[in-house]
Amino acid sequence: MKILYAGSEVLPFSSSGGLADVMGSLPAALKKRHPDDDVAVISPLYSSIRTEYREKMTRVCEFSVRLSWRNQYCGIYSYILNGVTYYFVDNEYYFRRSSLYGDFDDGERFAYFSASVLAFMSQINYYPDILHCNDWQTALAVIYLKTRYCNSEFYRDIKAVFSIHNILFQGQYDHAIAGDVFDLEPSWASIVDHDGCINLMKGAVVCADQVVTVSERYAEEIKTPEYGHGLDPAIRMYSCKLSGILNGIDYEYYDPKTDNALTRNYTYRSTGRKGENKRALQKQLALPESEDIPMISLISRLTDQKGIDLVASKVDELLLDDVQFIVLGCGDWHYENFFRDLEARHRDKVRSMIMYDKTLSKKIYASSDLFLMPSRFEPCGLSQMIASRYGAVPIVRETGGLYDSIKPYRFVDGKQVGNGFTFAACNGNDMLFVIRQALGLYRDKEAFKALTVKVMKHDFSWNTSAEKYYQLYNAILPERP
Ligand code: GLC
Repeated sequence: MKILYAGSEVLPFSSSGGLADVMGSLPAALKKRHPDDDVAVISPLYSSIRTEYREKMTRVCEFSVRLSWRNQYCGIYSYILNGVTYYFVDNEYYFRRSSLYGDFDDGERFAYFSASVLAFMSQINYYPDILHCNDWQTALAVIYLKTRYCNSEFYRDIKAVFSIHNILFQGQYDHAIAGDVFDLEPSWASIVDHDGCINLMKGAVVCADQVVTVSERYAEEIKTPEYGHGLDPAIRMYSCKLSGILNGIDYEYYDPKTDNALTRNYTYRSTGRKGENKRALQKQLALPESEDIPMISLISRLTDQKGIDLVASKVDELLLDDVQFIVLGCGDWHYENFFRDLEARHRDKVRSMIMYDKTLSKKIYASSDLFLMPSRFEPCGLSQMIASRYGAVPIVRETGGLYDSIKPYRFVDGKQVGNGFTFAACNGNDMLFVIRQALGLYRDKEAFKALTVKVMKHDFSWNTSAEKYYQLYNAILPERP
């Protein structure tokens, strides 16, 4: 089988969020389980990609890509890592920018990228069996495949899978630019039309052979107006081709046994050593040094999606207890300011680091006893899995992938059940209630240690999920002789 993943970010080359983690780990996990299959990934060659990687890339070819009246240069580079071939689309006009997204011409930039994905296949005579596109930025690749290319003998057998990592971002534009920017013909208008404008995600849902989202629960949620962000009628209409597969995390990259970001490495057999990491972090952050004070952390984009308003409404009450509260992340300015101010008001208990820092995040996961993730909605969520891997017990709201991955702690018939603390309603009091429940268990050293070990042993690797993708690909391909 030949599988090509297309996405707008991929670790370790480029990243702004969870999509990059998935693009950087699912293909490799699949290749590891099926070494005879051909697995490749294609993404833009952003100027932010480090020279360390650029220097090792091989130039494959160059050609020009047509996008409506434009003829744009396209260079293709490749890099092989863990058996997976990573292709990069080079065009400095589109990808030499200070950040991955947020420019006025994002629509044109990713239309160009999507057009390049299809054009490059004929240039190197490489036609995958499966083209797996991710989020609105590559939605047009699915649309072009099933419209412009549908009668080409080389392209017509390619099956398209489209993944929704977050339905909040749909790629919505005015119909006026359909031809000029997106190179869409008038007869295809109904494919992309939604609520009177162009909706690229909707177009990909219509065209794809299979639509996948990143947890089973989220696949159900996006059929409802509450979670569908306006796209729920289209999701319901095409629900026969929709499924949910929970993401995994890269168990080699996130491994407390070998991670050199940590002060002291450990496994579930030596959770006591988490205390050394905690002391080192307390020292680094000039907080009172004690292994006995429960440390709660929040590592997140500071936006409404992440339920930061619930935290803001209750954190002062929480800080009446003897706890330390660590925040790492950036986002909406009013939340950033809120946490800066919180630290100023509670200098002996709170540290707010308004930034994105991978190394520091791993130190925090390793040092924390509890990890808070009260998301309003969460397609999958990876932080609760990373926290579990590092033995920080997750406290989550029961939504999307959080619901699927974290089951509530209970003590039944002398046995611990569940792998975290959960609450259902989007309500600050309910959140505070379960945080206090967790803090109660923390005071029972033996019981909390047993739960920490159980949480660390929970399998969030790609093993099961990569196989589910493999089965899904097989199911849509024609039987082979
Ligand atoms: C998006 C979602 C997140 C998910 C990630 C990877 O960032 O918001 O929940 O884990 O994509 O699929």
